[in-house]
Amino acid sequence: MTLHDLNYDIQLSKGDFLPLYEKLREYSRVFVVSDTHVYDLHNDVFMRLKKKFDVYIHIIQPGETSKSLETYEKVCDDFLSQHIKRDDVIVALGGGVVGDLTGFVASTLLRGIDLIQVPTTLLSMVDSSIGSKVGINTKQGKNLIGQFYEPTYVFIHLKFLTTLSKRELNNGYAEIIKAALIGDKTLFELLKLNDHDRIEVISKALKVKIDIVKKDPFENNERMFLNFGHTLGHAIEKHTNYKGIKHGEAISHGMLYAIEKGIELNITSPYLKDEVRHILHKYQLLDVNIEDVSVYETYMRMDKKQRKDGLRFVCIKDIGIPVIHRL
Ligand SMILES: NC(=O)c1ccc[n+]([C@@H]2O[C@H](COP(=O)([O-])OP(=O)(O)OC[C@H]3O[C@@H](n4cnc5c(N)ncnc54)[C@H](O)[C@@H]3O)[C@@H](O)[C@H]2O)c1
Repeated sequence: MTLHDLNYDIQLSKGDFLPLYEKLREYSRVFVVSDTHVYDLHNDVFMRLKKKFDVYIHIIQPGETSKSLETYEKVCDDFLSQHIKRDDVIVALGGGVVGDLTGFVASTLLRGIDLIQVPTTLLSMVDSSIGSKVGINTKQGKNLIGQFYEPTYVFIHLKFLTTLSKRELNNGYAEIIKAALIGDKTLFELLKLNDHDRIEVISKALKVKIDIVKKDPFENNERMFLNFGHTLGHAIEKHTNYKGIKHGEAISHGMLYAIEKGIELNITSPYLKDEVRHILHKYQLLDVNIEDVSVYETYMRMDKKQRKDGLRFVCIKDIGIPVIHRL
């Protein structure tokens, strides 16, 4: 299945890699960035690429700490030493960390080299690989250096999901549940089933994000809907220093909080509290306990969405009907 709605194609596949190879044929050389986990677990993919193309591979350490200026410099230095040119292509073959870092490298090296995203976690398939946000962290916080840079192609292959742990998989489902809540009731119904077609679920989640990003690419209005659950979610992550709780788990608590807050403000239909709690439990997204919400209030006030006119908080009226409320 191919989604054509953005300036670049998003290909979803569970079959062969031919569409990716076709795209790579447009370039002289292929510069790949990945991490050690993906490189070891999916070595066959790298070997096949090496056989077919003039490929140079840079492997980084897995984990958020690699989204740093230091790793950025190492990758740039390595690719420049290999005489990378503007008619080459950079491929991010990994989760969101690889995608964000590599995207930032591609956006800045030689003032911009074509980028192909090959996401390997469920979270990166439905979220970070599309929407064009690329960047790295600094000691002051996450994603503080970065920009908007479109890939030329996104290739999503279900094969990669087979090696993900259940917890990593559920981490991705949190963003899919969010997409359903802000944009697609039919997706929410699919997620309630014990068995669903992953391609269908991923494509529906992508369509929600694509529609929003198309309306507001630079996050002035509608794109803020994608932050549903993130106000408390980010606060939890900051408070725990990004340890012990995954992003999807943190935003799941955040989504439940946003529902409760919405009910309190007479915005959200009260029946949603049980519905949402139930689905989050189903995907084991509330298993890590959090502290009382008051503990996170300082962080919430510092949230990025805080503007001169108050904190912009995303609520939903009902499934698929998001609204921004000024707190
Ligand atoms: N750019 C955006 O719009 C956007 C959106 C959401 C999140 N993000 C960023 O994405 C990052 C999180 O992404 P993530 O959750 O994919 O994390 P990640 O890239 O750290 O991957 C999680 C773990 O899974 C491993 N892994 C990756 N693919 C695997 C596979 N197929 N099998 C087994 N293990 C595999 C990784 O090595 C890592 O240990 C954060 O830095 C976040 O800020 C960006």
